[in-house]
Parts: sequence; structure tokens; C-alpha cells
Amino acid sequence: MEPLSHNIKHVAVIMDGNGRWAKQRSHPRVWGHVRGSAVVSHIVQEADDLGIEALTMYAFSSENWSRPQTEVLVLFNLLYKFLKKERARILKNNIRFKIMGDISNLPEQTKKLIGQLESETAHHTGLKLTFAFGYGARAEIAYAVNRFMKANPGKDITEDALNEYLMIPDLGDVDLLIRTGGDHRVSNFMLWQIAYAEMFFTETKWPDFTITEFRYIIEQVAKRERRFGAVAPATSLQDNIIVARENQRILRG
Ligand code: FPP
Repeated sequence: MEPLSHNIKHVAVIMDGNGRWAKQRSHPRVWGHVRGSAVVSHIVQEADDLGIEALTMYAFSSENWSRPQTEVLVLFNLLYKFLKKERARILKNNIRFKIMGDISNLPEQTKKLIGQLESETAHHTGLKLTFAFGYGARAEIAYAVNRFMKANPGKDITEDALNEYLMIPDLGDVDLLIRTGGDHRVSNFMLWQIAYAEMFFTETKWPDFTITEFRYIIEQVAKRERRFGAVAPATSLQDNIIVARENQRILRG
């Protein structure tokens, strides 16, 4: 495929719609997760090919613990299978792999595999691939503030300092947040890091999400003008006169 020019460094993805996708096909919800995990592999590969620097995927939220135990177990097993299956490719492609979240309740063999892959890839300089697992953004912010206070007793926290105490500080701000499945919400995902993210919501349910749609989204969003709250200064003399007159009028009441 043709190379795509874009300025998007960090993409975060809320992979939603697995359950509905399966139900529509008269299958149990977990079937959607199984199909969805294959899509994860394709999107990781495509993000790497597109030269994206960081890809953060919401694989299991802290709220997902309240799902039926059988479904939770399937998600654990899919993570385990993904790590086993993709390890060689992750190593070969210089990908840095990390989990962001509380994985203390995961089976020991999965935690071991995660630990191994995280240390094997810690020095890698390619795509920063992160799975948010057992993750909630409010918990992450509380975690950062608590760690800051312990390390800097009596000091006020600043925005820069908070960045440094997040779970994975070098991921940086999110440039693009994609959510599949048709809902328009952010569901406690990376609330600090998405402050200026572009949002893209698609009706496509995660198991149907393709690399073609992923490329299309990157292409569309790359065309958007991102102003980060600023506007271009007035350039013409006439614009400046209008602004000055408007200010006088405001002050006169
Ligand atoms: C939301 O769909 C999706 C999840 C809770 C989990 C996402 C997990 C995967 C895509 C597979 C796991 C793969 C790896 C490699 C860890 P939902 O069940 O909330 O869908 P619904 O909104 O239709 O009910």
C-alpha cells in the first residue's frame, strides 16, 4: 500500500462493539472478543507500517471486572494467546510492549509472560504498543497524584509534574482517539492524555474494523486543523482595526 503522510504520533483506541457484533450473529458475546482479538493483530501491524509512534488499546477496563466471570476469563485467555502468538513479531519489529493498569488479578502464567515481554522489549525504539488492561483513567490520575505527594511532600503539583507520574509517562498526549461500536463517549480512558485529542467515532463494531478504515481515519484526521485552543493572529490592518473597535465597544458597555 502507498505510504501515507500524517502528523499523528499517538493513537488510542476504544475497541467497542464485540458483544453486539456476536449477538447480531446469534453467537455468545465472547465470540466477538475472539474475532476482535484477530483485528488487534492487524491494527498493530498497520500502525507500525504507518509510522505511528504509540498505539494504546483499551483491552479491559477497571469496570469490566463486573462482567460474568466466564467472559472475564475469555479476555484473560485472549491476552495470553495474543502475547504467545505475537511475541516473535513484536521482537522482530522493534516494538516496545507494555501493559498499563492493574493486572494483579491475572493468572500467574499471563503475568509472567507480560513481565518477560515487557523486559525483552524495554529497550526497543519502534512502535510503543500499550494495552490498557485493568485500567481506569481516574485511578491513573489518583495514582499519579499520590506518587507525586509521596515524592514531593508539601509541594504543589503542576501539569508537567503530573505527566511525569502517570503510569507510562513517555506515551505523551494522545493525538487521535478512535472509538468503534457507535457510542460517543470516552469511558474513563486516558482522560488526562486526551485533553487535545482529535476524536473519531465510527459505527463499525470492532470485529469488523479493518486496516482500510484505520488508514481512512488517519488520513481524514491528518487533514483537520488542530489549534490547541489558539487561533491564528489577525494579520491584516483591517482585521486589527475591527478588533480594536470591538474592544472599545465592549468596554463602553
Ligand atoms: C468491548 O466490547 C470490548 C472489550 C471489553 C474488550 C476488548 C477486547 C478485545 C478486542 C479482545 C481482547 C484482545 C486482546 C489481544 C487483549 P463489548 O463487549 O463492550 O461490546 P458491546 O458494547 O457490543 O457489548
